Amino acid sequence: MIEFNNVSKEYSRDVYALRDVSLSIAAGELIFLAGPSGAGKSTLLKMIAGVEKPTSGSVSVNGQDIGKLKAGSLPYLRRKLGLILQEQKLLLDRTVLANVMLPLVVTGASGTEAETRARAALEKVSLADKANAKPQSLSGGEQQRVAIARAIVNRPQIILADEPTAFLDRDNANKVLSALKAFQSAGVTCIISSHDEQFLDKASRVIYLSNGRVTDSWHSALAA
Ligand SMILES: Nc1ncnc2c1ncn2[C@@H]1O[C@H](COP(=O)(O)OP(=O)(O)O)[C@@H](O)[C@H]1O
Ligand SMILES: [Mg+2]
Repeated sequence: MIEFNNVSKEYSRDVYALRDVSLSIAAGELIFLAGPSGAGKSTLLKMIAGVEKPTSGSVSVNGQDIGKLKAGSLPYLRRKLGLILQEQKLLLDRTVLANVMLPLVVTGASGTEAETRARAALEKVSLADKANAKPQSLSGGEQQRVAIARAIVNRPQIILADEPTAFLDRDNANKVLSALKAFQSAGVTCIISSHDEQFLDKASRVIYLSNGRVTDSWHSALAA
């Protein structure tokens, strides 16, 4: 359902974030995208969402070439995606519930429907009791689970999570990963980037990136 064909991304002259990446990810997989900082993980995830476009090669999702989508079609693609990107901070002046309702409000759902679905999403990440709290009163792990609830409230087919366990202790990181794994069990494809080796055994498959290229193991990713 996700295909990269010989994808390269050159941000500026001779600065390559990805080099000749070809891969395919099937529906229902839980993929760990592993590699050190600067390997190209965020760039790869952003390409699936159409946030960044390839310099050469093509990326397709469900058979649709993302690079050829018109700007007006991007919102339809994004509705199939649950994005947990590092740039997308929670709004600190709104409640947890309001944060999770936001994607629904933006797409025109009624207030009551948005609230019902946002509460259900919070239930799925075990944060129903924090609905009325402000994000800054939550732990880092809880905030990351709010971000997951916000990402899944539109019932996406694919979740893209960029280093969701960064800055979390092992216990909180495990809770975040369990929440993501539960969505995979329900049929959602999950792609999770991480520069941390300790969680890789939870994945159905690990894709290693190093200097913008796919490599065959963690050790070759670090050695490059
Ligand atoms: N917007 C950008 N402009 C220029 N260079 C960028 C940009 N985003 C990323 N890069 C460069 O591309 C490479 C890969 O970055 P990134 O995809 O963020 O890797 P990772 O997420 O694995 O740390 C790095 O060398 C980074 O400096
Ligand atoms: Mg990154």
